Amino acid sequence: MIYREGRAAIRYHSKAFINPHAKLTRDIGTALARLLLPKQYSVLDPTAATGVRGMRYALEGDAGSVTFLEINASAYKDLERNVKSIPHGVGVRVLNTSVQEFANTAHEKFDLIDLDPFGGAAPYIHDLLKLARDRTAFFVTATDTAVLCGAHAKACARMYDAWPMHNVLSHETGLRILIGYVARTAAQYDFGISVELAFTYLHYMRAMIVLRHGAKSVDATERELGYAYYCRKCCNAFYAMGRVPERQRCGFCGSEVEGAGPLWLGALKGTAASRVLADYSGDDDVPAYERKFAAVLAEEPDVPLYYSIPHLTKSMGIPSVPIDAVIDALRKSGSLAARTSLEASCIKTDAEIGTVRDAVKNAAARRPNQKPPV
Ligand SMILES: C[S@@+](CC[C@H](N)C(=O)[O-])C[C@H]1O[C@@H](n2cnc3c(N)ncnc32)[C@H](O)[C@@H]1O
Repeated sequence: MIYREGRAAIRYHSKAFINPHAKLTRDIGTALARLLLPKQYSVLDPTAATGVRGMRYALEGDAGSVTFLEINASAYKDLERNVKSIPHGVGVRVLNTSVQEFANTAHEKFDLIDLDPFGGAAPYIHDLLKLARDRTAFFVTATDTAVLCGAHAKACARMYDAWPMHNVLSHETGLRILIGYVARTAAQYDFGISVELAFTYLHYMRAMIVLRHGAKSVDATERELGYAYYCRKCCNAFYAMGRVPERQRCGFCGSEVEGAGPLWLGALKGTAASRVLADYSGDDDVPAYERKFAAVLAEEPDVPLYYSIPHLTKSMGIPSVPIDAVIDALRKSGSLAARTSLEASCIKTDAEIGTVRDAVKNAAARRPNQKPPV
């Protein structure tokens, strides 16, 4: 069977090894690498399967060399055949080995490492960091979203050494736990991190990180770690920086809150990512739902956490309100506000809970024939 994506044509025997739904991560990864890295950069595709990811860096992303690793013998056969279509100018190496074996025997560093395993990312991070240097682009996918989003909290504590949330915020807290884990592990190798772009899409989470070597970067990264909190009573979502979790009560209604962390509280979008998302959301060759996703991701304010409008109206005892009317009211009051790509019916804003509840009230009051809000 043949699968075509970008300039790559892939032969594969088993559908288990090719995931068309991950095309968006490969599209954005290829475009971002072109902006972030010098020409002729070296790539490690450590969990390569058919090789589509590494091939796209070679065929579309200006890579000078690509090393493919694949542990499974039958996937490796497809991989070996597929990479033959890469032009001779690009250095290609294909190894039927594991990440762990390679990382502990190779004496080289890569400009870009793009991890895309089945399930969790955590078991690979330590080994892959051994293959990084200053400014390596470290792109990580995780599909163990049930773990990161708190459906299996103890598994999250074991794998990522962080406590998750299982509520409306769990997509963002899961994503930030993944990044926080990379940040804390990278610190052991004397790397700080910055996030070029991070998002959740369908069944996976994706963090596109740049590593920076040195104590100053590690210290700066440490300052971006902390804990997230959620109040089920009034829907307040807030966070606190620092390595030690605080016992928190809701600053708005005084109720006990749920906490998650440690997790990354820094930015989720860099300047290169904004350009990539603007191009992607305007590209007519991209399917409409992917363009829409990229447009929402581009527009959402880069602030931690978000508010669910249905949860808020329920907590306030009023009928539903249009989300755009709440966004409008917040913007009129001088706040940043937009829908979030992380959860349907939710908004990101720099406004605090009191202002958000006022905006919901305003939106409700502007609806004809509505019971006045309490
Ligand atoms: C989700 S697939 C990769 C998909 C591919 N990156 C893409 O974009 O289509 C994960 C692959 O990692 C391979 N794998 C699993 N454990 C591995 C290990 N320890 N070292 C190297 N490859 C591994 C699996 O055999 C599988 O082919």
